[in-house]
Amino acid sequence: MEDWVSIGYLLSAILFISGLKKLGHPRTAPFGNQLGAMGMLVAVITTVLDMQLEGGAQWILIGAGLVIGSLIGYWLAVRVEMTGMPELVAMFNGFGGAASALVALSEIWKYLENAETIPVGLELTVTMVAAGLSALVGWMTLTGSMLAMYKLKGGISVFGKWIKTPTWGPSWLNPVKIILMLAVGVLIYLSIGDPTNTDYMWGIIGISCALGIILVLPIGGADMPVVVSLLNSLSGIAAAFTGFIIGNSVLIIAGSLVGASGLILTFIMCKAMNRTLLDVLFKSFGGNGEKASLTRTKVGSDADEVAMMIDGAQKVIIVPGYGMAVSQCQHQVKEFADLITEKFGTEVKYAIHPVAGRMPGHMNVLLAEASVPYEQLIEMDEINSEFPDCDVAVVIGANDTTNPAARSGEGPLAGMPIIDADMARTVVIIKRSLSVGYAGVDNDLFYMDKTMMLFGDGKAMMSQLNTAIKEI
Ligand code: TAP
Repeated sequence: MEDWVSIGYLLSAILFISGLKKLGHPRTAPFGNQLGAMGMLVAVITTVLDMQLEGGAQWILIGAGLVIGSLIGYWLAVRVEMTGMPELVAMFNGFGGAASALVALSEIWKYLENAETIPVGLELTVTMVAAGLSALVGWMTLTGSMLAMYKLKGGISVFGKWIKTPTWGPSWLNPVKIILMLAVGVLIYLSIGDPTNTDYMWGIIGISCALGIILVLPIGGADMPVVVSLLNSLSGIAAAFTGFIIGNSVLIIAGSLVGASGLILTFIMCKAMNRTLLDVLFKSFGGNGEKASLTRTKVGSDADEVAMMIDGAQKVIIVPGYGMAVSQCQHQVKEFADLITEKFGTEVKYAIHPVAGRMPGHMNVLLAEASVPYEQLIEMDEINSEFPDCDVAVVIGANDTTNPAARSGEGPLAGMPIIDADMARTVVIIKRSLSVGYAGVDNDLFYMDKTMMLFGDGKAMMSQLNTAIKEI
């Protein structure tokens, strides 16, 4: 490799790592994103300039790929709604996995045209194993991610029952999955003995596509963010395998970074939900809002009553949840905070649970979109000690993340860390009904004497509350 190519790859690796570091805080995250994109641009330009292209036709092909890919990426990113972000990430993951697997396939394809390029001995074994694993992980990521995207959109909820978990052992012992995995191993072994026989590679591709579907199909739609993060990690691993095959150091570095960071994010999410990764992948969790049969009732309050009560509050903590994302009321929430700060001199903070909503950082992204200052967004561990001094906790579309049942040692929420909204002097909850959240567990917080329920859509209720406050 020439010196300038090594320097280009080193520069892009530095940009990837610095970008990842900056993604750790909401304030620096946009810059981190730009650094990562810049790193990718440097890597692509270095690779293209280093290619031994023959004639104008190949340059036109590469140029057309770059222009079309950039335009599609830009168009998708510009028009995506904040709530549609997990779907977009799932789709990009899938394409990333497939791209890596295609590069590995094209490398093996060379053997058909020129038998002299076939490596021998250990090098052949390593290349064929890496190509097989790249195909397995890449194609599995493509079909799994496409299915995850479709499930996040609310499609396919019934068909997963086809892939039954055996009753006689742990669910990962599903014989179909095990036989398919073993078959891929056998095909990789056979391909080492006969590297020019492409039937083995087509077999691996077909089985890997089926595996992606079989693995994701039984998993519940609400667990999809964890699955998407895991598939993201797998797409990075596929890229790293491909980097080994074509001897490209930046692909190995970028793939390893994606693989490791995706896996860390997956575990952070599991920890915040107090579930293991195996539980997420192989056990269904909670329900769809109808699991617990609700027997208790609670009389609702109206916006005027709540506004009068907030008039006397010195400190208000806003607790956002998935319902805020659904109703897209973040701008009304910001208006509410500004109104009570200006009119009543109230101190306002936001309590952010690590898995509030349906994707990591969901609440931070929405509130940042409404220009809520970052310093008002306080992480759960930090803000929980402030609830006993808080006059009113305003819970907007949050349920599981505030459910005191998590403190008991039983049920699906047992052990999940929660926002201590129930410790505030008064609690206002805005949601459409008494129905359960993602975990399917009834929430005692709704029925406490100090709790006022404001039943209705988040945006409509916040608008009514703001009007009532303006009229005081
Ligand atoms: P949830 O427990 O999911 O509850 C959300 C509540 O929002 C529902 O009870 C619903 O009640 C209400 N809601 C829905 N639409 C609304 C609307 N238009 N207006 C007002 N309210 C509305 O929310 P949470 O507290 O944010 O907890 C998140 C859950 O998702 C956790 O269990 C977490 O483990 C899980 N999860 C999170 C992630 C990540 S990374 N964030 C990933 C996977 C799973 P009504 O129907 O009565 O309105």
